[in-house]
Amino acid sequence: MCGIVGYLGNKNASEVILNGLSKLEYRGYDSAGIAVNTGSCLDIRKKSGRLAILADDVTKIKMDGTLGIGHTRWATHGEPTDVNAHPHFSENKEIAIVHNGIIENYLELKEELTHKYGVKFLTQTDSEVVAHLVDKFYKEEKDLLEAVKNTVKKLRGAFALLIIAKDRPDEIVAVRQDSPLVAGVAEGEVVFASDVSAILEYTRDIFYLDNGEIFYSKAGKNQIFDFDGNKIDKESVYVDLSLEAASKGGYDYFMEKEIYEQPRVIAETIERRLDENGDIKLDNIYISKEDLDNINKIYIIACGTAYHAGLLGKYAIEKLVKVPVIADIASEFRYSDPMIDKNTLVILVSQSGETADTLSVLREAEQKGARVLSITNVVGSSIARESHDVFYTWAGPEISVASTKAYTTQIVSLYMIALDFAIKKGTITKEYYRDMIDKLRGVSKKVEKVLDKKDEYREIAKKFIKSQSAFYIGRGVDSGLAMEGALKLKEISYVHAEAFSAGELKHGPIALLEEGTPVIAIATQSKLFEKMVSNIQEVKARGAYVVAIAQEGNDLVSKTANDVIFVPQEDDLIVPILAVVPMQLIAFYVSVLRGLDVDKPRNLAKSVTVE
Ligand code: AGP
Ligand code: GLU
Repeated sequence: MCGIVGYLGNKNASEVILNGLSKLEYRGYDSAGIAVNTGSCLDIRKKSGRLAILADDVTKIKMDGTLGIGHTRWATHGEPTDVNAHPHFSENKEIAIVHNGIIENYLELKEELTHKYGVKFLTQTDSEVVAHLVDKFYKEEKDLLEAVKNTVKKLRGAFALLIIAKDRPDEIVAVRQDSPLVAGVAEGEVVFASDVSAILEYTRDIFYLDNGEIFYSKAGKNQIFDFDGNKIDKESVYVDLSLEAASKGGYDYFMEKEIYEQPRVIAETIERRLDENGDIKLDNIYISKEDLDNINKIYIIACGTAYHAGLLGKYAIEKLVKVPVIADIASEFRYSDPMIDKNTLVILVSQSGETADTLSVLREAEQKGARVLSITNVVGSSIARESHDVFYTWAGPEISVASTKAYTTQIVSLYMIALDFAIKKGTITKEYYRDMIDKLRGVSKKVEKVLDKKDEYREIAKKFIKSQSAFYIGRGVDSGLAMEGALKLKEISYVHAEAFSAGELKHGPIALLEEGTPVIAIATQSKLFEKMVSNIQEVKARGAYVVAIAQEGNDLVSKTANDVIFVPQEDDLIVPILAVVPMQLIAFYVSVLRGLDVDKPRNLAKSVTVE
């Protein structure tokens, strides 16, 4: 969802910016642009399409200058055209800005600028109003920082901004409100970006900007202010993330790398939360037994794959902690007038920690007095920093748009939280607690075994590549798992895949079945296994091609399904972590076999920072 990079220092700004933007391509975009202060003007280039098109333009006609800003746009207001691409600039081209987010009051600002100040707008975007406002105040104040302070007071909505001026070759101003923005500092240099992956090769000394902050850099001196102009003393953070972590590590696709990282990152997510006695210790979660005794309702709120992890977390927490749990998608929850009070715990799940829908739920929940615990993969993300309690998964950067390792580590995180709460409340025995922790610690090895059978999954994928649709069915936790399997296939191979609770088929969806329709039947739950075998027979009788996923030893399913994927025997609650892996790889292989852009599927963004 859009990428921002800015640079002021002693290097060629366009090289730093284009390199940084290439690290942010995974966020999804439709156009790109760059502005460099050449000393005599602001040289602005903007191109719809891939970043390579802009880079090609910059190679042909070099951009000289050590101050610049760049942007990859994910259009919200206005077509993804060259003109609508960022940077946007004032009429006299004295000011240039890039923006991530949505200026919600842009129409009234545009009206005022047009009719009161005679400004002529060039684009259909909301962002352009920022360039003209800064220009207006700059003419009045003759001071770039003051002009930005006056501007941000008039803006409503989400905005990460970078602003430069033609006659200020040694100044850059950054603003953060809701959309993410970080600043990396080194001797005589400052690099800004939407996330650290674009900065790390220049510096590891990072400032995570908070909402309502302005970062002002002039001739190597950096200052931070709030929107009222008060100075803020803020410490930078040393980020030791390895560069390799953001590279492909020898795989052809980030998605494949991240699928194969699952054994390691699942183990890290667990082991880093165990003390010397093997008991769970949740370092950033301060919920005591007393707090738990006062919690009478838990919501698990998220979007997409994170929501699917939440569905499994619901089962675990209800089963272990004996508190009602409602899992819901953020975009619906926040408009459902939810019953939230001080006895409510809201658990947010978000890989990026920046998803606007989920972030909005956080703010509403806290406003209504709820305790908010977030499970996220990005240290310093908005959701992490605004929650009361945080559980960081150790999945590491997840670059591919399709979420895989984040999903399995989110499930593990939710299970550890459930076990920690349950043992604190005394709703499970110490033996069960120990047994489940031991089982969780053994998951990684079993995931490795599942991964070893990748050729089997590739053969199955070959049967899918011509399919226009596919069913995913399951019961109990497998019905939530079916939703994740279906999402993986649809989002990277564009096959219309749909998940159904297996018991629901006969109430309508079974009418869709035709000869050869692929059905993935997830039958991992021991108590529901025979019911699932009946459902397999039900769909087979109507021509379906059934691929069953079951625990080793349940050979009965081999007599009914066309193909069976066996996963190692495991506790019913934990086995979905194993069963999802074949579905991740089947989706991956179908996408590769179809020659699609696995890591950057059409229309999608890795982090949806607009509602
Ligand atoms: C999943 O493969 C998708 N990339 C998408 O559904 C994603 O899970 C969703 O947008 C939520 O993102 P988050 O976890 O960063 O909040
Ligand atoms: N709303 C702005 C636009 O449509 C910025 C979108 C983004 O964050 O990329 O240009």
